[in-house]
Amino acid sequence: MVVAVDGPAAAGKTTTCLALAGTFGLKYLESGRTYRLLAFEALRRSVSVDDESAVVSLCEELIESSRTAGLLEVDRHDAGDLRSRAVNVAVSAVAKFPELRRRVTELVRVWAGAQGRCVVEGRDIGTVVFPAAPVKFYLTATPEARAARRVVQERAGSYEDVLRDVMRRDEADMSRTASPLVPADDAVVIDTTDLAVTQVVDLMASLCRRRGVAIP
Ligand code: CDP
Repeated sequence: MVVAVDGPAAAGKTTTCLALAGTFGLKYLESGRTYRLLAFEALRRSVSVDDESAVVSLCEELIESSRTAGLLEVDRHDAGDLRSRAVNVAVSAVAKFPELRRRVTELVRVWAGAQGRCVVEGRDIGTVVFPAAPVKFYLTATPEARAARRVVQERAGSYEDVLRDVMRRDEADMSRTASPLVPADDAVVIDTTDLAVTQVVDLMASLCRRRGVAIP
């Protein structure tokens, strides 16, 4: 039983997923963290992020050394490392490689199979990773609202810089050929621009209940 939550950067996925996880006793996975970890390690080891086979080899090496779940749940790097400006740019490059996405997708499926009930956030969870998920959300908001939230949340960079990065990543995520960011046909789209977190969580939780996600 997977709740799939997709959407662009800073649309509120993490906050709302954690709230749903708490309410319904679901395990939670942030799939973007794995793409960030791969981008971070490529930069650290001077592996070209434009070289698909080099990045895929790096991914295989990391899977090998950390065992399957390790790569998804790794906490070797603090959040600052994985969310740096350099990683924000590099992650868009690595996330467009189909071979890399296939491997990450496999890891996420194996992880979810072991959890039973979970909520997974990302860009392609409802479209590619779990197309049969019984509950799918696509959270969105204007780029300006998302940039403003990210500035408050991470205190990293000026509003203008963050807005530029958000719009650049939107474009990269939406225009790539491999698993582009797009709402699944059966996803419930929620525009969070003018909604408080509690309103978004209430909307999501009520749909979860209607679809049979029970409180344990
Ligand atoms: O937290 P934020 O919304 O900024 O991004 P993230 O979830 O940490 O994801 C970072 C990047 O990884 C995104 O910009 C995507 O390019 C990529 N990603 C992806 O391609 N597919 C996923 N399922 C999750 C993330």
